[in-house]
Amino acid sequence: MTTASSSRPSSPDAPQRCILITGGAGFIGSNFVHHWCAAHPGDRVIVLDALTYAGNRSNLATLDGNPNLIFVQGDICDADQVAALLKSESIDTVAHFAAESHVDRSILGPGAFIQTNVVGTFTLLEQFRQHWLTQEQPSDYRFLHVSTDEVYGSLAPDDPGFSETTPFAPNSPYSASKAGSDHLVRAYFHTYGLPTLITNCSNNYGPFHFPEKLIPLMIINMLLGKPLPVYGDGQNIRDWLYVEDHCRAIDRVMTAGAPGETYNVGGNNEVKNLDLVQTLCDLVQDMAPTFGWELPVASPQELIQFVKDRPGHDRRYAIDATKIQRDLNWEPEETLETGLQKTVAWYLSHRDWWQPLLSEEYQAYYSKVYT
Ligand code: NAD
Ligand code: TYD
Repeated sequence: MTTASSSRPSSPDAPQRCILITGGAGFIGSNFVHHWCAAHPGDRVIVLDALTYAGNRSNLATLDGNPNLIFVQGDICDADQVAALLKSESIDTVAHFAAESHVDRSILGPGAFIQTNVVGTFTLLEQFRQHWLTQEQPSDYRFLHVSTDEVYGSLAPDDPGFSETTPFAPNSPYSASKAGSDHLVRAYFHTYGLPTLITNCSNNYGPFHFPEKLIPLMIINMLLGKPLPVYGDGQNIRDWLYVEDHCRAIDRVMTAGAPGETYNVGGNNEVKNLDLVQTLCDLVQDMAPTFGWELPVASPQELIQFVKDRPGHDRRYAIDATKIQRDLNWEPEETLETGLQKTVAWYLSHRDWWQPLLSEEYQAYYSKVYT
């Protein structure tokens, strides 16, 4: 992988697609870069990432030396840079992950969420539309927008899972900004005929997940003997999906989905937060010695603390993934059990990855949210 821009090769082995992956140094984006490079080795891959606090160049380190991959540091809100990149790299496909993604940060400071998630998505869409027009509107171009189930709001205990026709009812600045971006993507298909696709996925977990999110935060705090902060009564429900399953779903939608369509993606793994944290405690306790860890406490369960609830905390999310299963033949390969085992093993063996992320900036953020 190089960091400089270069032109599209014209050899007989020329790649089939030239894909721009925004946010490719973040959690899901970097897993997707690994997935795409393995699944489509002939394609040319351009990663555009601003390297905010959540972006980490080292997530792609094992791809260094891949001649079909280049990394560009830049902001999706920078129209000139985006336009130049689309043109110089002859991009025909966009997988759009770049976003501000953490609900708690959106409560502390919503401005960055509007800027990146709404203005940034608009900028990218508009520049891609201009580029598509200059190429005479090829029908095989694709713009896939990666979004979240949080746009649908919160479910009551007996409600059916969110389907693609559930009305939007976002409750946090994060989900409201993602809903805004989803609407723009939809409008670009209906107004201009730009071949767009949208995925709305449930909570992901797995390698390269930034420490501020529930699962990595709990694992890391157990290893460091710090309190495990459970919001409210711990009875909020999330539907968890292993990140590689999400990447395979995005690949299916990109390669076989119908332009203009939305596909919901979920793991069929609804769990209450407290139950999830307790499962993680058991897993870490069982697995830590195998990876050379001596835990600071006899049982991580002792570290669980109920803390003040998140404002506007959605009670329950659940996805009805019938459409993607039926139309695109996708379903998750990991169960929650196998996915959590893989994830715990990854954090136990990658202290060198997560320790540097517990920076001063992170500690300042942590104090604001948890004290
Ligand atoms: P993340 O916060 O881990 O990564 C976001 C990446 O985007 C980072 O690398 C960051 O540097 C980059 N970025 C931020 N602002 C940018 C900008 N202005 N220009 C260019 N790059 C910028 O997020 P994630 O958890 O990997 O989520 C990726 C996408 O998937 C987001 O759009 C999110 O809404 C969506 N999503 C996430 C989940 C989840 O559980 N994490 C579930 C469903 C959908
Ligand atoms: P999170 O990983 O932030 O994802 P999201 O808010 O996008 O669903 O949180 C998952 C759930 O865990 C959510 O219900 C909030 C809860 N939570 C805690 O109880 N404690 C924590 O420290 C964090 C970060 C989250």
